[in-house]
Amino acid sequence: MSDVAALLVQADALHLPLRDESVQCVVTSPPYFGSVRVYSEEVSSWGAPLGAEREPHDYVAHLVAVFDEVRRVLRSDGCCWLNLGDVYAASGKGGGGIRGARTTNWMRVVTERVGFRMPPAGYKQKDLTLVAFQVASALRAAGWYLRATVIWDKKRATEPKRLDRPSVGHEYLYLLSPSEHYAARDPGESWWGHSVWSVSPHNSVDHPATMPEELARRCIVASTRPGDVVLDPFNGSGTTGRVALRLGRSYVGTDISREYLAEQAVRRLDGVQMEAAL
Ligand SMILES: C[S@@+](CC[C@H](N)C(=O)[O-])C[C@H]1O[C@@H](n2cnc3c(N)ncnc32)[C@H](O)[C@@H]1O
Repeated sequence: MSDVAALLVQADALHLPLRDESVQCVVTSPPYFGSVRVYSEEVSSWGAPLGAEREPHDYVAHLVAVFDEVRRVLRSDGCCWLNLGDVYAASGKGGGGIRGARTTNWMRVVTERVGFRMPPAGYKQKDLTLVAFQVASALRAAGWYLRATVIWDKKRATEPKRLDRPSVGHEYLYLLSPSEHYAARDPGESWWGHSVWSVSPHNSVDHPATMPEELARRCIVASTRPGDVVLDPFNGSGTTGRVALRLGRSYVGTDISREYLAEQAVRRLDGVQMEAAL
């Protein structure tokens, strides 16, 4: 483990403190559109939390800008795994607008679902926005190679039973590469043979949107070798980092929230000497 390094930096993902082409693989999950958890007082360069945009096209444009920056720091033979979920437009009944649903057990972190009382322009009440696919499509148009969509099957519904549609129990992983030839390969495990990955969600009291370690592990083993550098520009509780370090990869994590980096990620990236530039 001695040649494995880890670095946590407080930064807006729009301005990554890294050299061009310095990481081999990105595994990340940005805040989702319209389902804003206000993670801390820090806001992005746009003056509001990422995910709090009123219109899907603004959210898409912001993520395209972030992933332009991600592409700058990614090696030309590297891979980016982007986890996103889809979002419904308004029910018209204040759906998703449960303001005040706060919890305090995430260390001064306020969670608040913003949602919509009225649908964004161009959407009807109850429409599925397909915003995750809009992001993937916009990234492809911005120059990324969109190589795969993996359905993350959560093995159970993650919302209450609905009367007029099936309840949602899945999200997406998009495999993106900056060039035609990139270093992903069959890791020799059965899940590589099928684009639906059944992995139970992680329930965490430390962070409101923790990625399951198994999901991060699959991405990392398929697209890196020991010693390679893995980046998560939306570090959160540091799931990608924990798994990367355990697998003998180096790790860089950035997050706009100082609290997460200082109080959670550092504490939970156990066993490895962390250098935190906070
Ligand atoms: C969905 S969570 C990531 C969860 C992470 N994958 C995990 O397993 O814990 C999104 C994270 O992005 C961070 N974030 C929000 N806006 C950001 C920005 N503009 N730049 C960097 N990080 C940001 C939030 O503080 C939050 O920790």
